[in-house]
Amino acid sequence: MGTTHDAEDDIRNEDILIYVNGALKPRAEAVVSVYDSGFLLGDGMWEGMRLYGGKWAFFDAHMDRFFDSCHAVSLDPGMDRAGILEALTMTAEANGMTDNAHCRLMLTRGVKAKPFQHPSLSRSGPTLVIIMEHSTPSTDLQQKGIRLAAVPQVRGLPHAQDAKFNSHSKLNCVIACLQAEAAGADEALMLDPLGFVNTTNACNFFIVRKGQLWTSTGDYCMNGVTRAKIIELARKNGIPVFEKNYSLYEAYSADEAFLTGTFGAQTPVASIDGKPIGDGNRPIMQRLQQLYKAAIAKDTGASL
Ligand SMILES: Cc1ncc(COP(=O)(O)O)c(C=O)c1O
Repeated sequence: MGTTHDAEDDIRNEDILIYVNGALKPRAEAVVSVYDSGFLLGDGMWEGMRLYGGKWAFFDAHMDRFFDSCHAVSLDPGMDRAGILEALTMTAEANGMTDNAHCRLMLTRGVKAKPFQHPSLSRSGPTLVIIMEHSTPSTDLQQKGIRLAAVPQVRGLPHAQDAKFNSHSKLNCVIACLQAEAAGADEALMLDPLGFVNTTNACNFFIVRKGQLWTSTGDYCMNGVTRAKIIELARKNGIPVFEKNYSLYEAYSADEAFLTGTFGAQTPVASIDGKPIGDGNRPIMQRLQQLYKAAIAKDTGASL
């Protein structure tokens, strides 16, 4: 069983230092209260970012999403983006990381006075945690691709829990992932409430048909930083790209399909519901991978 977040094993991750509210703690001591809003309710927001040549790729786009999400749920980070960058830098330096490193930046509403829901019970906080790990995505997956299963769990309407929130509560996605696993697949392909193909449980989803790149309208999926970058790069480089409704019918017979996310960049899809996608050649995805790599190099100054 593979997942899009498969990384090469790295023993050094046993000894990382984790940022917890300004302190750097060894992994075993990096803990938060059982009264924490994140633990009790999934009441928090997070970002996944990667470090290239000591710089966080597309930092501003990640911070735009992070601060917009926090603002939308009245969660005060207690610091501006320069403060967040300082905390990230402190964590990266403490771990001696400059490349092939992934962080999960997590902010919750803090420690509650009682184990109940009301936000006003979150009286001390917020809680800010940064886990940084040495991380190199599995090269194996680039060759063999990922197996998807379309699952019954759908993406919700924005007035239930907007899929744009990168919230600690990922139960909708976790249920989808369990369904995919039960179907013998690696990851779930999720539909929108009308039955159109939307996203996977952890990444955004694209197909290629006759040289055109298609992805969902974006109405029910994470506003992925990688998704936006791929759309921008396709537009700039003469690859016709459409954000539109389409069904499994068109996904099954796509020439190529791939996922996007900060961790894996672009991950090819081998099959959907057991049906192989295309003939195994992925010229458009590979072109976009090169363009994406160049965009990261430009953004971070790293030589890739
Ligand atoms: C459900 C979901 N879709 C897509 C993504 C990919 O987003 P990004 O490209 O910003 O990493 C994520 C990552 O947080 C996610 O949780």
